[in-house]
Amino acid sequence: MARRRQLYEGKAKILFEGPEPGTIVQYFKDDATAFNAQKKGTITGKGVLNNRISEYLMTRLAEIGIPTHFIRRLNMREQLVREVEIIPLEVVVRNVAAGSLSTRLGIQEGTRLPRSIIEYYYKNDGLQDPMVSEEHITAFGWASTQDIDEIVQMTLRVNDFLSGLLLGVGIVLVDFKLEFGRIWENDEMRLVLADEISPDNCRLWDAKTGEKMDKDRFRRDLGKVEEAYQEVARRLGILPEAGIRDLKGPETMQ
Ligand SMILES: Nc1ncnc2c1ncn2[C@@H]1O[C@H](COP(=O)(O)OP(=O)(O)O)[C@@H](O)[C@H]1O
Ligand SMILES: [Mg+2]
Repeated sequence: MARRRQLYEGKAKILFEGPEPGTIVQYFKDDATAFNAQKKGTITGKGVLNNRISEYLMTRLAEIGIPTHFIRRLNMREQLVREVEIIPLEVVVRNVAAGSLSTRLGIQEGTRLPRSIIEYYYKNDGLQDPMVSEEHITAFGWASTQDIDEIVQMTLRVNDFLSGLLLGVGIVLVDFKLEFGRIWENDEMRLVLADEISPDNCRLWDAKTGEKMDKDRFRRDLGKVEEAYQEVARRLGILPEAGIRDLKGPETMQ
C-alpha cells in the first residue's frame, strides 16, 4: 500500500490524508494520557475498541439526524471521516457530579445534578485546556452565538440519546466531551460532530454497582482498564468479530 501523508499525531489518534479530497483517516492508538499528558501509558486494545465504539455511537446518532464526520470504518484501527475545521472547544456535558466539577465546586462525586450542565474548554494543550464561557468564545471568534446555539441543541440531543442507549445496557452516562467541526459546502457552513465518542472521553458507571468503566480506571490506577473498555463494547454488542485475542490489531499503520 502506498504511504499516506500523516497530517497530525495527537495523544490518542493519528490523522492521515484520506483517499478522496475532504476526507481523512483516523488511526486509533493504544496510547493513553491523563492530566494534560503528565501521565502516559498504553491500554492494550484500546484503539481497536474505541474505533469500534465510536463508529457504533456515531452511526446510531446519524440515524436520529445528528450530522457527524463519520463515513465508514476501514479496518480494526482506522476509520474514514469527513475532514472538518475543528472548532477549538471541548464541549463537556455532565449529568452526575464527578472529576473536576466535584473538586472545583466541592460537590460529592456521584451526586445527580439538578439538570444537565454544559461546560466549554478551550482546546489548547499549551494552556492545559482552560475552561471558558460563551463570552470568551464569541469575543475571540472561536464560534458565533448562532454556532453555540446549534452546538447546545445538538449536544443536549446527543446526551439524551446516549444516556438512554447506555442505560439500556446497564451503564450510567455520567459525563462526556464532544468536539464539533465545520464543513463548507457551496459557500454554506454546516456544523458536524467530530473526533470520537469512547470510554476515553466519557465517564461510564455500571448502573448496578457504580463501578467505573472508562478512562478514570487509568487516571486513578484502578486496574482492569482493558477489561472495562471491553465490557463497554461487549454490552453494546460490538466486540470485534475476530474476538478479544485480536485486539492488538495490525502492527503497521502505513
Ligand atoms: N473530522 C476531523 N477533521 C479534522 N480534525 C479532526 C477531525 N476529527 C477530530 N479531529 C482532530 O484530530 C485530533 C485527533 O487526535 P487526538 O489524539 O484526539 O488529538 P489531541 O491530542 O489533540 O486530543 C484532535 O485534535 C481532533 O480535534
Ligand atoms: Mg483528543
